[in-house]
Amino acid sequence: VRGTIMYQASLQDYTSFRIGGPADVLVEPVDVDDLCRVVAKAHAERIPVFVVGGTNLLVRDGGIRGIVVSLRRLKSIRQEPGHVLYADGGVGMPALIGYAIRRSLSGLEWGAGIPGTVAGCVVMNAGTRLGEMKDALKAVRMVDPRGRVVDIPATEIPFSYRRAHLPRGIVAGVWLQMTPGDHARIEKTVKDYLQYRKDTQPLTLPSAGCVFKNPPQDSAGRLVDAAGLKGARVGDAQVSDKHANFMVNTGHARAADVLALIRKVRAAVKKQSGVTLELELKVVG
Ligand code: EPU
Repeated sequence: VRGTIMYQASLQDYTSFRIGGPADVLVEPVDVDDLCRVVAKAHAERIPVFVVGGTNLLVRDGGIRGIVVSLRRLKSIRQEPGHVLYADGGVGMPALIGYAIRRSLSGLEWGAGIPGTVAGCVVMNAGTRLGEMKDALKAVRMVDPRGRVVDIPATEIPFSYRRAHLPRGIVAGVWLQMTPGDHARIEKTVKDYLQYRKDTQPLTLPSAGCVFKNPPQDSAGRLVDAAGLKGARVGDAQVSDKHANFMVNTGHARAADVLALIRKVRAAVKKQSGVTLELELKVVG
């Protein structure tokens, strides 16, 4: 392995929530080949591998056993013929959207303001009111559990709300089908949407994005707000005053605080409106 290997590494630096215990072993491969070597070695030694995208994630205070892989060094983007973009899994959505704007390519404007990696956005079929990942996806490059590269066309991937039904493995890269568009218009759409999100969401405090999935025909944020929970807190975990479907880390929140706050919110919403909220946030460890 050519990348960095760290032992008992705090996952706080690898999650947007800035919460979580340590990884036994944390590896940052430098490219897809390197990732394949890490996965093949772990498979041979029967050690579990978990990938941290880090954005829609709550790592428990006890941390994660086995090998944790961060794709933060897999960062290349290139344009291919037919208005296709290829991005390594660790590329952040903001960087990818910036690249698309510079080349006047339309298709990712919906993702303005999403801080996560492109691989994370594929795995959870990230989306907003403007669109979702499945609309732009052409194919994914995966590393299977034995460390082999497998390319899968998007037409073979079933998608549902906030989920891509992928085979087991790691999303190492993605191909996006873009369309040529008007530079000023693409840029304006992105800027306007970013501004809307800054106005309505707490984008400057550590958070994990939306905590709950929207129930059919409703908004989890509206329901939590209607239950009077804006500003509710457990320790340093707080329901955002700005958007009630966000929980923010106001200092040194522990995962246990967030989980207690989640229980409190779900109970209050159930009592107030009879709806059982489902987690969008992934809890691991
Ligand atoms: N609302 C409230 N109080 C709140 C928050 C929202 O009353 O505290 C009301 C709003 O006034 C509005 C309605 O609820 O009438 C919907 O709110 P909003 O437009 O903010 O959208 P949302 O359904 O709450 C969804 C996504 C967000 C995405 C926004 C904007 C989900 C679970 N949420 O939120 O995604 O950013 O639309 O496109 O799909 C995420 O997935 O992490 C996420 C933040």
